[in-house]
Amino acid sequence: HGTSNVNDKGHLEIGGVDTLEIVKEFGTPVYVYDVALIRERARGFKETFDKLGVKAQVAYASKAFSTLAMIQLVEQEGLSLDVVSGGELYTALAAEFPVGKIHFHGNNKSREELSMALEHEIGCIVVDNFHELKMLEELCREKEVKANILLRVTPGIEAHTHDYILTGQEDSKFGFDLQNGQAESAVKIGMHSDFLNLLGIHCHIGSQIFETTGFILAARKIFEKLNHWKETYSYEVKVLNLGGGFGIRYTNEDAPIPASQYVEEIILEVKEQARIFGMTIPEIWIEPGRSLVGDAGTTLYQVGSRKEVPNVRNYLAVDGGMSDNIRPALYEAKYEAVLANRPLDEVEETVSIAGKCCESGDMLIWDLPLPKAGKEDVLAVFCTGAYGYSMANNYNRIPKPPVVFVENGQVTLVVRRETYADLVRHDLPLKVKAQN
Ligand code: LLP
Repeated sequence: HGTSNVNDKGHLEIGGVDTLEIVKEFGTPVYVYDVALIRERARGFKETFDKLGVKAQVAYASKAFSTLAMIQLVEQEGLSLDVVSGGELYTALAAEFPVGKIHFHGNNKSREELSMALEHEIGCIVVDNFHELKMLEELCREKEVKANILLRVTPGIEAHTHDYILTGQEDSKFGFDLQNGQAESAVKIGMHSDFLNLLGIHCHIGSQIFETTGFILAARKIFEKLNHWKETYSYEVKVLNLGGGFGIRYTNEDAPIPASQYVEEIILEVKEQARIFGMTIPEIWIEPGRSLVGDAGTTLYQVGSRKEVPNVRNYLAVDGGMSDNIRPALYEAKYEAVLANRPLDEVEETVSIAGKCCESGDMLIWDLPLPKAGKEDVLAVFCTGAYGYSMANNYNRIPKPPVVFVENGQVTLVVRRETYADLVRHDLPLKVKAQN
């Protein structure tokens, strides 16, 4: 996994740092990010676009993992940034991310969020529906500004890992329907508006996708319409954004293709479609989240109690769980793990890793092969970098773990551990006295 390996003490090492040293200094649970791996992934995307000579923006989908340091890293690597809420936008602004490279998504942006985006002159707003289109136009009129927009369309293709659901009119809360004329009406509004600069079209077909078929089908469906709009309204897009969703390997059950391959096939298809219809090749924008940070994150936990159910199963509990990684409980997501203090020890049993939350569904990994482990051990769960910290919560009033970045043997704390005081910071005492 990434730049992790086993050092001469026999401990798991990430980015040149002994994971047990991290535990000693920051406690458990703790999220550890391998910065070199994030940089490598970012460069991989950019190099593929450069190689094929198309104009592009690779926008990191910050919903996967957003903190000041992460946003700064994204800036260092020259990527753009996708935000989906006032909070993610605020984080980007606080990290002083270049505003022109921020794209704002969401199916129910509020007036305040849109105002914030306009005031900070962010690069592009991805408009999702007619309500937003109208509100944004009004706001631009009031503020006497012109906003760059993309229109999010639902192309009628939904990718669920290996399955593609092809529907005439996609049943989705997101975007303008491409087939039933909604997208066309929106294009007409955008094209004629004095306050909107319609850069092009956006679509996103799903997440944790292992094949390029869905992207290719979506591109073809969109190009049919682009051609129609060109012929009917002489409107040509400058930008085609095909979203994110490139799958990663969590366990042996997953067999993703390399991210560069998705991108290469997508670019070739867009070029081919543009050629067929005699159009200028648009800028291609993509929005990877998981594939940039997923396998760069590892969570370290202290092993605690053990319960044996004879002839059924052994449970091993750790000091975190669905509060720091809700994905197993929410999606039945699967993970791999090793003992960080002795990753090479022989496997002796199959145990199921339980979290500490008061909920039966709080299981991190079912039936994991491990050496016989106990309270001296530290468990390292791999590939927790995407949608781990970003979906963490305070269920059972468990404080959120800290986040550390490691690179070239250096450790940097980038998010402090929450304290118990943090947990009651927004609570207010009861004002009325007891009645009796
Ligand atoms: N662009 C748009 C418009 C999206 O909706 C998403 C993800 C992305 C980009 C980034 O997708 P990625 O490259 O990370 O697959 N919480 C779920 C994943 C939800 C993804 C939502 N949208 C999980 O933990 O698996």
